[in-house]
Amino acid sequence: MYDIPIDYFVSPITKSSLIQKNENLLADNDGCEFHKNKEHGFWNFLPNRSPLYNEEEWLSFQKLIKNFVISYDKDPSKNVSYNARPDALLFGDFCKYHGEVLDIGCGPHPVPSYIKFKRKEDVKYFGIDVLIGEQPKEHNFIQAMGEHLPFKDGLFDITISGTSILHYVDVKAGIREALRVTKKEGYLCIWLGVKSDEAPPPTESPEWYKSLEIPDGAENPFHYKRYTEEYFEGLFEECNGILIEKEVHVVDKWRKNIFFRLRNNN
Ligand SMILES: C[S@@+](CC[C@H](N)C(=O)[O-])C[C@H]1O[C@@H](n2cnc3c(N)ncnc32)[C@H](O)[C@@H]1O
Repeated sequence: MYDIPIDYFVSPITKSSLIQKNENLLADNDGCEFHKNKEHGFWNFLPNRSPLYNEEEWLSFQKLIKNFVISYDKDPSKNVSYNARPDALLFGDFCKYHGEVLDIGCGPHPVPSYIKFKRKEDVKYFGIDVLIGEQPKEHNFIQAMGEHLPFKDGLFDITISGTSILHYVDVKAGIREALRVTKKEGYLCIWLGVKSDEAPPPTESPEWYKSLEIPDGAENPFHYKRYTEEYFEGLFEECNGILIEKEVHVVDKWRKNIFFRLRNNN
């Protein structure tokens, strides 16, 4: 079911090439091994520990992931591109799919709606996420961290992040990695949701939300940091990205969805 050519892969941390030991096992030159999931057949490239993060950040990353799982379970239509949400459909149009597309942080469902309702027959879709989520996926899936993609440089025509990179502890590492695996003439599409500090808090939060722990150093249960449009845009240059297009969709007085299209400046 999952059929990603082995020669697409490199070691997620060192980026060295991989040796195939057997049908279910890859290894890098340092002896790190990567296994195929026995039940579902996708490759697992999650590192035991990211060298980018100190102990506290690593624990916070894990708590954020735990909170995501609860929110997707309790209220998927608000927290992921689960159904034909107008914002997800607009993002699907913005991505202008062609060639080979990698969705980074593809979510817990078989396929996010910005692909489900906008799929093009001649396009090959790939997805990565930390979470296994519902299986099987309706695209080629691997388990990995967006900060440590196990793909060769310049592989994909389009890389996309539907409200995923903005959840990382190190968002710059996420943008750099996404651009690294994007073809020079390709592009990265990022969907950023922004909310003003003046937005009134919800009149009542559900019990499940109240029970979530805010990870150390994080601004809220789901975001290590919340970004303004200007701040987020200011990160692109540092991440070797050039902004080539931006679309802003105003949701209400306090909320906007912003779609960015970036090229790799390397
Ligand atoms: C708000 S959801 C969006 C999912 C999907 N793109 C959608 O719109 O339905 C954020 C996703 O990013 C994933 N994610 C968070 N941090 C990640 C990381 N460091 N590496 C890869 N995926 C990550 C989460 O597991 C989650 O599936």
